[in-house]
Amino acid sequence: METALQGIEHAYERSADGLLMTVGYSPAYFGRFEQSLPENVDLPMPKALAPFEDPKLDTPDTVVHLASDHSQVVLGAEEALKGNKDTLNGVDQPDATLTDAFEIADRRTGFVGKGLPAENDDVEGVPSDEIPEDSPLYMGFKSGFKNNQASEDRVSIQRGPFADGTTQHISHITLNLNQWYNQDSRYQRVAKMFCPHHAAEEAVEGTGNNLNTDTEMDKCKHAKDAAREEGVIGHSQKMSRVREDDKPIILRRDFDSTDGGQAGLHFLALQRQISDFVKTREAMNGTDLAEQSAVGQRNNNGILQYMNVTNRGNYLLPPRSLRALPPANPPSTKEENNAAA
Ligand code: HEM
Repeated sequence: METALQGIEHAYERSADGLLMTVGYSPAYFGRFEQSLPENVDLPMPKALAPFEDPKLDTPDTVVHLASDHSQVVLGAEEALKGNKDTLNGVDQPDATLTDAFEIADRRTGFVGKGLPAENDDVEGVPSDEIPEDSPLYMGFKSGFKNNQASEDRVSIQRGPFADGTTQHISHITLNLNQWYNQDSRYQRVAKMFCPHHAAEEAVEGTGNNLNTDTEMDKCKHAKDAAREEGVIGHSQKMSRVREDDKPIILRRDFDSTDGGQAGLHFLALQRQISDFVKTREAMNGTDLAEQSAVGQRNNNGILQYMNVTNRGNYLLPPRSLRALPPANPPSTKEENNAAA
């Protein structure tokens, strides 16, 4: 497996212009070993995370995530990993393939970037000609501003054999954009995505081009007050309740998709422990806010009304030295043994 992975790495530089890759393993994979994962690794089986969802719980052994600014790079790398290419970008490929060790259970695809959602608007769930031409995501706004993301340090496992690794949650969400674009006004869309203050002040221009490194969530009311006083709460407004040191605790890498002939997105998030994701998702449910105000379980409750989670999966992304078929509890590193002595 390591030889196969190195084959595609030798063909492209490690950057968005070349190829970026992660390899993750599920709790089902680690369940094959007699030993348990180290106690500091939080990797439960996936489960439904809202009272109104019934996702399929994914249990493949492994997920390989390939990303690039050039679609032909990910498509080429995929073929090479399956053993269908002798050379990739002019570089000889090894005989070893990923399919020597695995069968392919599922293949998911997607895109993110200016103009791509508008180019891919011929699927179910998208009102024709409504997606802004310059939007990087179907819902019409930019996402992942620098200061609205956790740092890589915040999401890295800190000690034990999997130190410098992380955990990954991957869900698939279908989107209903007909109501979002046809029945809701720009005011409602900004209020539900950001917060009512941003809508009233027209603080978001276009897809959010005027916002530089953060969405100025400090200008929004506390979600509890907005729920009671305005009857509507914003997605980001709810999410900012789980900040630590003024930053979220998950690192989002979500992208849109037309898998299944339906507008959707693969919500991929990295965090030190899966419980950080669960805590963030609970804030998104806003059950406490709905109980104390006119805001519904899904109506006027951020963007919950427009999305449906179809799949959830949890994975451990080991550090690079353990990325090929790691055991559940590998020996600790030399440094740690020395420190313990
Ligand atoms: C349809 C799916 C979603 C869309 C279109 C979406 C969009 C957005 C947008 C536009 C923002 C504000 C700008 C920014 O990202 O910096 C945001 C913030 C955020 N979203 Fe989402 N989101 C989605 C689902 C989720 C999910 C499933 C989670 C996790 C459970 C999540 C977690 C967050 C967090 C943590 C923030 C940052 C909050 C802060 O600034 O403290 N989002 N999202």
